[in-house]
Amino acid sequence: RPATVRTVADLRARVAGWRAGGARVGLVPTMGALHDGHRALVEAARKENDRVITTVFVNPTQFGPTEDFDAYPADLDADLDLLADAGADLLFAPQVTEVYPHGFATEVRVASPMVSVLCGARRPGHFDGVTQVVAKLLNMAQADRAYFGEKDWQQLAVVRQMVRDLNLPVDIRSVPTVRAADGLALSSRNAYLDPAERAVAPQLNATLRAVAKAIRSGTAPAAATASGAQSLRDAGFAHVDYLDCRDEITLEPVDGVPAPRGARLFVAAHLGRARLIDNWPVAD
Ligand code: PAJ
Repeated sequence: RPATVRTVADLRARVAGWRAGGARVGLVPTMGALHDGHRALVEAARKENDRVITTVFVNPTQFGPTEDFDAYPADLDADLDLLADAGADLLFAPQVTEVYPHGFATEVRVASPMVSVLCGARRPGHFDGVTQVVAKLLNMAQADRAYFGEKDWQQLAVVRQMVRDLNLPVDIRSVPTVRAADGLALSSRNAYLDPAERAVAPQLNATLRAVAKAIRSGTAPAAATASGAQSLRDAGFAHVDYLDCRDEITLEPVDGVPAPRGARLFVAAHLGRARLIDNWPVAD
């Protein structure tokens, strides 16, 4: 099992020792309740670095007042088993007061429409919390590379923008979405699904594939996404927050036939207690 450190000082001491020996360090930030999606990030980091740090921190500043911060699944013991198996060297699991001590006052916000569309529209301030904690974790860990999943495509885009804008000395690496055999993207929040909902959940990815195919065969993105949203509701999703076709880098809306290069589909929809997200390229 990897060693666990709880303080920034202990984390820094470990990393300083590694770096003094010339080791390359990879960082995998997570909120715990680890699954095979997180495992893929750790394995990617393992391949490209000499040492791998995983952080488990449920960051309060990225949760809205009515969201699931208090209910967010946690099982540090199981997380340690997965991390041992995936080959992580160190777990950094700080308390909230270690990350946000009394008097903490600095915000980190990407001032771009990129943070107020898609999930940012339904979750105001969410990406401000993400950039705040990711900036801090990157500075705490001083890693050479940091790993993020394509499942949270908008988060990846926002983090890349922040790292570029602030000249943070880290290489952001992305890892493809890990899915169940039926197409459902793995997520800690899938634990909220009951068996009947779990049977419906793969429709999220199936619908994205169908919408992408319709666009490739000449349907305008606006029409294809509207009918995709309707089929999600018909399948049993309670509310579709969005099903949009957007540029994969800027996240600006795209329309027209044929869809422009870099067009990507983004969806968020509610199923039972869970809010599920996914994304998929229009091109094959
Ligand atoms: P969390 O939801 O725990 O996800 C941690 C990382 O795992 C993210 O980069 C996410 O994109 C990636 N991930 C989750 N499910 C995945 C899957 N099925 N396939 C590939 N990668 C997957 O995202 C967060 O935590 C937080 O916002 C964080 C970045 C840690 C900041 O608090």
